[in-house]
Amino acid sequence: MQRLRQSRPAIVGTGAYLPAKVLRNSDLERMVETSDSWIVERTGIRERRIAAEKECPSDMGAAAALMALERAGLAPNDLDLIIVATTTPDTLFPSTACHIQQKIGARKIPAFDLQAACSGFLYGLVMAYHMVALGTYPTVLVVGAEKLSSIVNWSDRNTCVLFGDGAGAVIVQQSTQGGQMIAHDLGSDGSQGQVLTVPAGGSRLPLTPENIGEGLQFIQMAGKKVFRLAIDAMETTARNCLKKAALQPEEVGYVIPHQANMRIIELLSERLHLPLKRFFTHLERYGNTSAACIPIALHEALTAGDIRPMEKVLLIAFGGGLTWASALLEW
Ligand code: ACO
Repeated sequence: MQRLRQSRPAIVGTGAYLPAKVLRNSDLERMVETSDSWIVERTGIRERRIAAEKECPSDMGAAAALMALERAGLAPNDLDLIIVATTTPDTLFPSTACHIQQKIGARKIPAFDLQAACSGFLYGLVMAYHMVALGTYPTVLVVGAEKLSSIVNWSDRNTCVLFGDGAGAVIVQQSTQGGQMIAHDLGSDGSQGQVLTVPAGGSRLPLTPENIGEGLQFIQMAGKKVFRLAIDAMETTARNCLKKAALQPEEVGYVIPHQANMRIIELLSERLHLPLKRFFTHLERYGNTSAACIPIALHEALTAGDIRPMEKVLLIAFGGGLTWASALLEW
């Protein structure tokens, strides 16, 4: 029997875009000293998508946004606000959100970028829900778009095997349908910022020939530390979120975790006592696409029919900053 739901801010449309070029582990074997078996065993990743040279996060984000609008039965003119989560903006400014506003032909509505590394999309989603709930911006586009291939050191085997490019988007509006948010949890810890960082290119260390020579414009990561911190933070934020919703982990039907490493996802499933089969993964195909992971995954899960009506879906992210985020939605 169809349950009557109140109208609340809800995800009413999703979209995704993945660049055409596929970079397989076998391709990486020819670039650095690594092997398909090492990458699959230690991470679960088999291939990732790489944007074309001139393809920017705003191009990928605009494509995902147009798909989300279409699936919501809306046009760019219907949007009241654009929030874009990215760590790899097209330009320092204008923001990627402004590029997307122009590319999709939206009205002259507010548009801004938000940076919380891999947790950025969920930060943006929470902002959007609040804006819609207040009624000030009734229809909000939230995009996660990344071109991580532009900040990866392709001669560093510790990091270059992990990341990929792509974009995902959602539309948030008052609705009785779609994914309504029941609870959320956001957090950060700047004291651990050095474990995952791009040191140069900001105002602290502007790009100079010396900095570029040292590769400081690329992702630097203390992999083992990040691994441990990621599991702890993801478990804690998931539990905080469920506590706010007065729910037990077993009441969650579907989990979309940040797609960094299969071993992190397996450990999370153990710690939350939730069967691994309830966890969505696409990291074997796309690697870690940072802020784009979760909206791409959500779009794929919905279009595959994996998320059933009334199902409680837990989204869990972790990223540089450090930052973490979770959101519990009911479809
Ligand atoms: N191929 C072959 N060998 C490798 C590779 C590779 N691609 N990378 C590292 N190794 C080697 C190391 O050099 C090391 O060799 P040594 O023992 O001779 O020194 C050995 O493998 C083990 O290296 P570890 O770093 O200890 O390997 P680990 O099991 O920790 O796996 C990994 C490394 C995959 C990076 C893991 O630590 C991890 O996933 N960490 C979390 C990463 C993450 O989640 N990052 C992003 C989160 S937030 C965001 O998305 C921005």
